[in-house]
Amino acid sequence: MRTLEWDYDKNELVMIDQRILPAELKFVSLHSDREVAEAIKDMVIRGAPAIGAAAAYGMALSAVHSKAKSRESFKLEMKDAANVLLQSRPTAVNLSWGVKRILNIVENSHDPLDTLKERILQEAHIISDEDVEINKKMATFGADLIDDGDTIIHHCNTGSLAAVDWGTALGVVRMAHEQGKQIHVLVDETRPRLQGARLTAWELQQYKIPFEIISDNAAGYFLKSGKVNKVIFGADRVAANGDVANKIGTYMLALAAYDNNVPAYSTVPTSTIDLSLPSGDQIPIEERDPDEVLGISYQGHQVAPTGARARNPAFDVTPHRLISGIITEKGVIYPPFLENIAKTLNTEE
Ligand code: MRU
Repeated sequence: MRTLEWDYDKNELVMIDQRILPAELKFVSLHSDREVAEAIKDMVIRGAPAIGAAAAYGMALSAVHSKAKSRESFKLEMKDAANVLLQSRPTAVNLSWGVKRILNIVENSHDPLDTLKERILQEAHIISDEDVEINKKMATFGADLIDDGDTIIHHCNTGSLAAVDWGTALGVVRMAHEQGKQIHVLVDETRPRLQGARLTAWELQQYKIPFEIISDNAAGYFLKSGKVNKVIFGADRVAANGDVANKIGTYMLALAAYDNNVPAYSTVPTSTIDLSLPSGDQIPIEERDPDEVLGISYQGHQVAPTGARARNPAFDVTPHRLISGIITEKGVIYPPFLENIAKTLNTEE
């Protein structure tokens, strides 16, 4: 199944619970915008494209279950749902993009309320279907950059679980594999939530793509060995100048890749590019619960001493000078990014 799907019998949203993978494959059912916002905050669902679609479905839940009798009160309910969803996570721009696509329909519709509710749900389905289509296009462009025999370092999780289906950066790897290229993936475990060791590794196993998990801080060692050909990751927001906000640790990885002349590619749908921000300095960086860092245990015991404090930024910004190319559904964007991003975004597919 897709990462998230609408259940028409119950008018509810069903999603894979990514907190307990790979130990168990379980599903959760959500009934309101509040429940979706909690699920996003709690990482039941995660990854920029996936939370964009989830936010749109959160709006749809609010619409479908609304008891509002007038257009005015319906609009107020939708704005309230938008605010709740927008507060769930700050860095991935797809979240506000998904919410805005629905709000746009609410603002511009003259349909009777029942028709409007149906249109909102349809728009969420369209966002979902488009995501899969876009991911496959990105994968096709990206796979052209992958050579037979490549060893690739991958950071975070960017496979089908981080999207509606197929995935962004891992989608590129999957496409290259399906084209028959022999690829070996070194999977950054991606501390502190271990998305790489848990989710990327699980997905690679299903696709039967050879991989080994490495600790994040081993990436520099492998890059320096000369045995790594490419580095690939996703993004949660890309600024107009090509600076890339992605899962914490990406900056260090890109630095080590640059120092060793290994190309580093970010893979994003154009909905992740935020032209309103001139550079990565303006991207809000979410700081999460320190317990995500402190709670890691070794041989059954918590590693950190009781009372220790921690910092837990969930993302970092990689300056565009360290990025070799940005793979999108409209093609690969190369430097100079400021100019070429604007050009690509204005191009019809
Ligand atoms: O696990 P998250 O939601 O905190 O991390 C987000 C991501 O999955 C990545 O940063 C990812 O590379 C974005 S692109 C699928």
